[in-house]
Amino acid sequence: MDFDVARVRADFPLLARREGGRPLAYLDSAASAQKPLAVLDAVRGFDAARYANIHRGVYRLSEEATAAFEEARAEVARFLRAPAPRGVVFVRGATEAINLVAASWGSANLRAGDEILLTRLEHHANIVPWQLAAERAGARIVVCPLTARGEVDLAAFARLLGPRTRMAAFAHVSNALGTVNPAAEMTRLAKAAGAAVLIDACQSASHFDIDVAALGCDFLCFSGHKVCGPTGIGVLWGRPGLLDAMPPYQGGGDMIERVAFERTTFRAAPERFEAGTPNITGAIGLAAALRYVSALRPGAHAHEQRLLALATERLSAIPGLRIVGTAPEKVAVVSFVMEGAHPHDIGTLLDADAVAIRVGHHCCMPLMESLGIPGTARASFAFYNTEEEVVRLEQALIRVRRMTAG
Ligand code: ALA
Repeated sequence: MDFDVARVRADFPLLARREGGRPLAYLDSAASAQKPLAVLDAVRGFDAARYANIHRGVYRLSEEATAAFEEARAEVARFLRAPAPRGVVFVRGATEAINLVAASWGSANLRAGDEILLTRLEHHANIVPWQLAAERAGARIVVCPLTARGEVDLAAFARLLGPRTRMAAFAHVSNALGTVNPAAEMTRLAKAAGAAVLIDACQSASHFDIDVAALGCDFLCFSGHKVCGPTGIGVLWGRPGLLDAMPPYQGGGDMIERVAFERTTFRAAPERFEAGTPNITGAIGLAAALRYVSALRPGAHAHEQRLLALATERLSAIPGLRIVGTAPEKVAVVSFVMEGAHPHDIGTLLDADAVAIRVGHHCCMPLMESLGIPGTARASFAFYNTEEEVVRLEQALIRVRRMTAG
């Protein structure tokens, strides 16, 4: 299928931004993706004409807003190929989703001596909530090592699973390296060992289709702002039966059946986990983003893979530059280090050329420590990036090399 990147770019007003007379090359979509008009218009249109609080009003406007919010939930369920919208909980983002599961599922299921299996490439958001839960329960974190190419060592993963493993939580795709993990196989192994499975799909939902039934996991989460949606909205998907058996995470309005000072009873999921007025407009914007990105697949993914191949080829040829993370299965993320140039200096010099990348540890300090580096420079591509932008990155890096090589 042909993919018309020029037409797609016209949907993104921010991509017309110029800096110092040049168009901005935005190569930081793994941190946050830009928003198409479909999302900007959906948000503005909802707030301008259809906004009211939901689940509370008896008047028509509130009923319409409630229907739009619940339709957004159904859109997310379709996006995840989930059997029912009831498994979709709206949260602030993946960080809140993981904290919710670690706190709520953790308090009901983790006991002293239990193990939580993570991998070395996890983002801090999939480490720290589990450390907090483990500390509360007296459980232990077990960490699966990586191969030299930056892949999860599947044999070690299988070995580390055991009768004490209660939870295996891992990223579908590494934000720092771009590695695509064999999530279905890891889930199968973990489930066979009797563990629950949480998949952090933050960096996969933005690149390829997700199917929770095919993955076989118990929980999956992602953030709206990485799939061209608004910030402050994200999704926790959980098996509905499992969610209903979990204690509330936060208390407040809308999550209760009946409140009395003697005893309060709670609604089933998803409302049980949506205390207070949620990010109603964010959910509407997220649904618009999911419709938008879904309509561009699979052409968008093929285009990104072409950008990845070109960037890998061009950057590998720059003397002194080493790509970190060379797994055969990657999304369009190229992390690298350069002899004699600190990642922060690379980022600053590229900014002067109107090329925006992220530098540092990418919220993956344990990963960087295991690689023996303080951080990397990371170019991350979305379907709206172009081959010209890859070449601008290459040329800017060649200038950095000239400036910094002794
Ligand atoms: N997790 C985001 C990133 O990788 C913020 O940049």
